[in-house]
Amino acid sequence: MSLDIVILAAGQGTRMRSALPKVLHPVAGNSMLGHVIHSARQLAPQGIHVVIGHGAELVRERLAADDLNFVMQDKQLGTGHAVAQALPAITADTVLVLYGDVPLIEVETLQRLLAKVSDKQLGLLTVTLQDPTGYGRIVRDAEGQVAAIVEHKDASEAQKAIREGNTGILAMPAARLADWMGRLSNNNAQGEYYLTDVIAMAVADGLLVATEQPHDTMEVQGANDRRQLSELERHYQLREGRRLMAQGVTLRDPARFDVRGQVTVGRDVLIDINVILEGNVVIEDDVQIGPNCVIKDSTLRKGAIIKANTHLDGAVMGEGSDAGPFARLRPGSVLEAKAHVGNFVELKNAHLGEGAKAGHLTYLGDAVIGARSNIGAGTITCNYDGANKFKTVLGEDVFIGSNNALVAPVEIKAGATTAAGSTITQSVEQAELAVARARQRNIAGWKRPEKIIKG
Ligand code: UD1
Ligand code: CA
Repeated sequence: MSLDIVILAAGQGTRMRSALPKVLHPVAGNSMLGHVIHSARQLAPQGIHVVIGHGAELVRERLAADDLNFVMQDKQLGTGHAVAQALPAITADTVLVLYGDVPLIEVETLQRLLAKVSDKQLGLLTVTLQDPTGYGRIVRDAEGQVAAIVEHKDASEAQKAIREGNTGILAMPAARLADWMGRLSNNNAQGEYYLTDVIAMAVADGLLVATEQPHDTMEVQGANDRRQLSELERHYQLREGRRLMAQGVTLRDPARFDVRGQVTVGRDVLIDINVILEGNVVIEDDVQIGPNCVIKDSTLRKGAIIKANTHLDGAVMGEGSDAGPFARLRPGSVLEAKAHVGNFVELKNAHLGEGAKAGHLTYLGDAVIGARSNIGAGTITCNYDGANKFKTVLGEDVFIGSNNALVAPVEIKAGATTAAGSTITQSVEQAELAVARARQRNIAGWKRPEKIIKG
C-alpha cells in the first residue's frame, strides 16, 4: 500500500482570539500542526499535503520542510473542497485525511484505520460520545453497515439521537477520489462542500465503510479555543508522564511536570515537582532532579543530581556530578564525573574536569578547569573585553582563592594557587602561588571623621 496524507489546516480559529493561526498554537512546546505532521511522518507516506489558508504564509514559514507539500485553499468552502485542493498532488493508492488542530492522534490508531482500507473499503474513525453535539452523525443501515454521515446542522431529530460521531479522520482508496470530489455539492445547511458526503457516494458505488475507534477520545479532540488547548496540553503531559513512569521514573506529581520535546530516561530516576524538560533531554539511571528545574537540550549521566531551581541549557552533567540549588548551566557547559557546581554559579562554554568544584557565587565563561581544581566563592572569569571573548585555562589541582577575577586570556597551571581577592592578569606556572592584590596597611591611632554641626 502506498499512502498520501492530507492535513486540513486552512481554518481561522476565531475563538482562539489570536493573531496566530489556530494550527500554530502550541501543545507541549510544538505547534498543533507540528504534532500532526510528526505522527504523519511515522506512517512513512509518499506525500504529506498540508492544506493552508488563514495565516498561510506564517504556517508555511514555521513548518517548511522538504517532505511537506503546502497546498493553498484561498477560500474555506468546506472540508471536501479542502481535500479537493490536494487532489492533483495525490499519486498513492490510499489517502488519509488528518486535521491540523487535532494534535493528539496516535500513530497506532491510524495504523489500525489504514489496515481497513482496500479498493473496496474505506476506513472511518468514529467516536461514541455522551454528547455528540456538533459532530457529524454516523448513520447505519439495518445490518449495521455505515450508510452515510449527516452533519449536526443537517440532522433530523432521530439522527441527532445517534451517539456515534464522525472524528473527520478518514482513509480512502485514491482511485475513486477525483470522481467523488467532482460530485460534491454545497446544497446543505452550511453551504459547504462536505468531505463527509463521500461516505454515501462510496456506499452507492458498492464500497464498504469500516469503522475504528480511538482508545482514548482525547486523541480525536480538536482545540477551538484556549480552554480546549489547555485540556489537550494537560492530557498530553499526563500521557508523557505515564510513559516515563512506565520506564522507571518516579514523578513526585505527574500533574506538575511538563515535557516540551523528546525525553529518554533510564531507571530509578527521581523527578520532583514543577520540572520542565525541553528539546532533547537524555536522563540516565539514578538521576535526581529537584523541584522547579528547567532542563533543555541536555544530557544527565548516571547518578547526576540537580538541586532545586537549577536551569540547564545545552549542558552535559557527568556521572555523579551535581549542580544547584540555583545554578545556571548555559550552552557548552560540561561537568565531568563528580564535578560540583553549587548555588548561584553560572557556567557558559565551560568544562569542569573530574571532581572539579565551583561551590558558590561564580561565573565561569569560556573556561577549561582541570580535574580536582577548586574555584573559590565569588570568583569570575573576565572572558569578554567588550569586543572579543577569550579563554581561561586551569590545570589540574589548581586552587583559586575566593573572589578572584581571572582576566582572560590567562592560564593557571597544575597545582598553582591564587590568593583570595586576586585579579589574575598573567599566567601562573605550576605549583606557584599568585598574589595579586594591594598589600594591607594598618594605621594606628586612626580618628574617625566627626559630624559637622551647622550653626
Ligand atoms: C467536521 C466534520 C464533522 C465531524 C467534525 C469533527 C465535515 C463536513 N464535518 O465538522 O462530521 O464530526 O469535523 O470535529 O467534514 N477546514 C479547512 N478548510 C475548509 C474547511 C475546514 O481546512 O474549507 C479545516 C478546519 O480548519 C478544521 C477542519 O478542517 O481544522 C474541520 O473543519 P470544520 O469546519 O471545523 O468542521 P466541523 O464543522 O467541525
Ligand atoms: Ca470543527
